[in-house]
Amino acid sequence: MTTAHPANIDIEAALAEAQEQYRARNPKSLAQYEAACAALPGGNTRSAIYAEPFPLTMVKGEGAHLWDADGHEYADFLSEFTAGLFGHSHPVIRKAIDAALDGGINFGAHGMAEAKFAAAICDRFPSVELVRFTNSGTEANLMAVSAAIGITKKKKILVFHGGYHGGVFYFRGKGSPINAPFDYLIGTYNDIEGTRALVAPHRHDLAAILVEPMLGGSGCIPAEPTFLAELRALSRDCGAILIFDEVMTSRLAPGGLQQHWAIYPDMTTLGKYVGGGMSFGAFGGRADLMEWFDPRNKNGFQHAGTFNNIVLTMNAGLAGLTEIYTPEAARRLNEWGEKLRERLNAAVRKKGLAMQFTGLGSMIGVHMRGGTIANAADAAQGHAGLLELFYFDLTARGIWFAKRGMMSLSIALDDNDADQLVGAVEDFAETRAPLFEVMQ
Ligand SMILES: Cc1ncc(COP(=O)(O)O)c(C=O)c1O
Repeated sequence: MTTAHPANIDIEAALAEAQEQYRARNPKSLAQYEAACAALPGGNTRSAIYAEPFPLTMVKGEGAHLWDADGHEYADFLSEFTAGLFGHSHPVIRKAIDAALDGGINFGAHGMAEAKFAAAICDRFPSVELVRFTNSGTEANLMAVSAAIGITKKKKILVFHGGYHGGVFYFRGKGSPINAPFDYLIGTYNDIEGTRALVAPHRHDLAAILVEPMLGGSGCIPAEPTFLAELRALSRDCGAILIFDEVMTSRLAPGGLQQHWAIYPDMTTLGKYVGGGMSFGAFGGRADLMEWFDPRNKNGFQHAGTFNNIVLTMNAGLAGLTEIYTPEAARRLNEWGEKLRERLNAAVRKKGLAMQFTGLGSMIGVHMRGGTIANAADAAQGHAGLLELFYFDLTARGIWFAKRGMMSLSIALDDNDADQLVGAVEDFAETRAPLFEVMQ
């Protein structure tokens, strides 16, 4: 692909026009962004939500809908990068939060809700026999990986290109100089031969394998179940701890993808929606591993955290998991997601576009390329300009999702919202089809 190709020149022109319209449509978001730059570096405190030329500012959320500063309404197909599974201000979550506000939000002591919430998590996720809470998925992974090193007394951590496990565990693109300073081996996702070869010289020093059962941030690329099964075997061969990062994927089946594939890790990390939409993370797993965190064990590990058992999150998480996102609700949402993805793929197939929607159940990745996408390098071959154009076109049609091409579904979305999304994709496919010639 060279920029000299006529279609690429057309894409650039279409993008310039779309950006101009975006600027014209969103003056208040632009003004808000410029004001934010005075006190936040680049006006931003969360890298993933920044978007060129400037991000939209949302001012209100209700159910499955969002409104921006300029008054445009959106069907929320991002659902807070999976954390907003319940939609905005679900009445049951609101009640749970109100109960915390009425009775005190953080006691500096054991409370009543945390044990119930922990029991609900252990009931739900098969490999989790005992669990501890943190404030974010990042922190959950920091704790799980640190524990693996402490327990095994080994150093190497196997992760995968395209993996994302939090702000200090960024393995997309060129990675990040501010990653937590563990001793990483970085394998290729879905490539077990390559992974075995990478690990072979270090097999006696492998402390943990940290893997998302589906790459989330890198484009909703599911792991082959055989790949996960082989990682399970490899970790046993090496005496390493297998950690499934199910911060995103735990929503994809009642007991997460581990249950869906019947492949059980030693430890699991959770976050996002499991906390009912509040700040949340958790790490859990085999009792013999988690018992290192038993404070009665004088040789065990310390794990403090001011907000680990904040009543607000404990109440909201317990209500979310037991009263709203029941196993039945999880099945329903993910079946609905499968059907929606099929409709989206049918819309672009009909036009013969080199474009596809990947993922499983309620998580959807958008890629501007055809063919198999098994890892981050495959995903990176998608056409970046077309993806950007897709973002401008869909946001102009009232669809909210992540510019990098990620959608996730909430239980608040309904068939009208799905029709709106499919209609917007059909419009895009119709109007932009000529630009796809470059991909054929
Ligand atoms: C798979 C995965 N792990 C961990 C994290 C980090 O969670 P948090 O943003 O709560 O720190 C994320 C966040 O997007 C994630 O997608």
